Amino acid sequence: MDAEKVKTEEFQLEVDSELRFEIETRNRKVVVELKEGQAELFGTELVKGKQYEFHTGAKVAIFTYHGCKLLVKGEMDVQYIARETPMVQYLNAHAAVEQLRVVADEQNENGPIVMVVGPCDVGKSTVCKILLNYAVRQGRTPISVDLDVGQGSISIPGTIGAFLVERIAHVEDGFSQQAPLVYQFGHLSPSDNDAYYKLLLSKLAEVTHKRLQTNKKIRSSGMIINTCGWVKGAGYKHILHAAQEFQVAAIFVLDQERLYNELLRDVPKSTQVVFLQKSGGVVERSRHQRSEARDSRIREYFYGRRTPLYPHSFDVKWSDIQICKVGAPALPDSCMPLGMKAEGNKTKLLPTQPSLSILHHILALTFCESIEEDVINSNIAGFVCVTNVDVERQTITVLSPQPRPLPNCIFLLSDIQFMDSH
Ligand SMILES: Nc1ncnc2c1ncn2[C@@H]1O[C@H](COP(=O)(O)OP(=O)(O)O)[C@@H](O)[C@H]1O
Ligand SMILES: [Mg+2]
Repeated sequence: MDAEKVKTEEFQLEVDSELRFEIETRNRKVVVELKEGQAELFGTELVKGKQYEFHTGAKVAIFTYHGCKLLVKGEMDVQYIARETPMVQYLNAHAAVEQLRVVADEQNENGPIVMVVGPCDVGKSTVCKILLNYAVRQGRTPISVDLDVGQGSISIPGTIGAFLVERIAHVEDGFSQQAPLVYQFGHLSPSDNDAYYKLLLSKLAEVTHKRLQTNKKIRSSGMIINTCGWVKGAGYKHILHAAQEFQVAAIFVLDQERLYNELLRDVPKSTQVVFLQKSGGVVERSRHQRSEARDSRIREYFYGRRTPLYPHSFDVKWSDIQICKVGAPALPDSCMPLGMKAEGNKTKLLPTQPSLSILHHILALTFCESIEEDVINSNIAGFVCVTNVDVERQTITVLSPQPRPLPNCIFLLSDIQFMDSH
């Protein structure tokens, strides 16, 4: 970039206001620097004098509790200062959660397990991030759980998972994750296999609850659970199921009063239901933008984001691996023995033979060594993408973050596809 031509602007922000901006234009970069005062990005404090880079696709709010001066270099597509923000409400929500952690510490109990719910594009993931960051800033180490299979933050699309948050999120790169716990669902919406989603959710709840018992610090820090935007019909039932399985102490409902009232009616009285306002800054994403966001998550998994990664490509013999699907086509109840439901089919492991139909599909590598093991309930070691199927030689070519050999051989087939255009 020609230094002379870069547009530079200064923004003076008042108490409790935020600078919101979006970058849509391709190959654009914006650099933000905090000159005076204090400011934060979704709960992560900016360091004065440090240059933060934002790229195409960024939708950001830089908030200040006490006022600040920001220097912005580069062109943004949308930019304005908002004086109305729900940040103080979110801070109060955090303070209430923190109070529960203090009590948990004193009584040596589990800390607060909090779930954030609401329709699509209301800022659920952002609120979770803020709550996690604030917790870490107070010396806590909460577990972050993400149940959103479409736009989750932990692994690639089609999964649910959890990880321990020990550090504040990096402004540009988000939370650093060590050994996240990931389960493969393999579809973009729970509705694609409700029974299987339910099963995995229960498994994740069980394992994260065990993890919570690791030590006193983790136990009292509790969990923050993000959910997907499907809040009607079966989606609502999944919320109730999650609340029960995770033994949720509080549910923060973003934006939708109807959902808030339904939950007030349906969850046990011991679970607090709290309404939170949606931020006016949250940007609605089109179908296309969602699908692009999913694609770029997969690309980042293989190729990295700011630090490039160099994935490997190699052939694997069909005979050396076993690919499995979950869920057999449903039988009508009339074909089942009296009183039995055809539901069991949906969570059945089906070993399948590779074929051209798996081309471009993601395969999740389980920790299992044989299909006699509990493959369906296995967490995931990593992912590969099928970039070629050679029927004659009976091999597939995979894109893999690790060089060969693959550590295990049992894979779960995902519905999700990735076109490797590198
Ligand atoms: N206050 C805000 N100002 C500007 N953009 C925001 C703000 N809060 C959230 N966003 C952006 O809006 C988008 C949607 O928010 P997100 O938290 O992912 O919503 P949800 O999880 O409910 O779908 C994200 O790109 C996020 O960065
Ligand atoms: Mg989200």
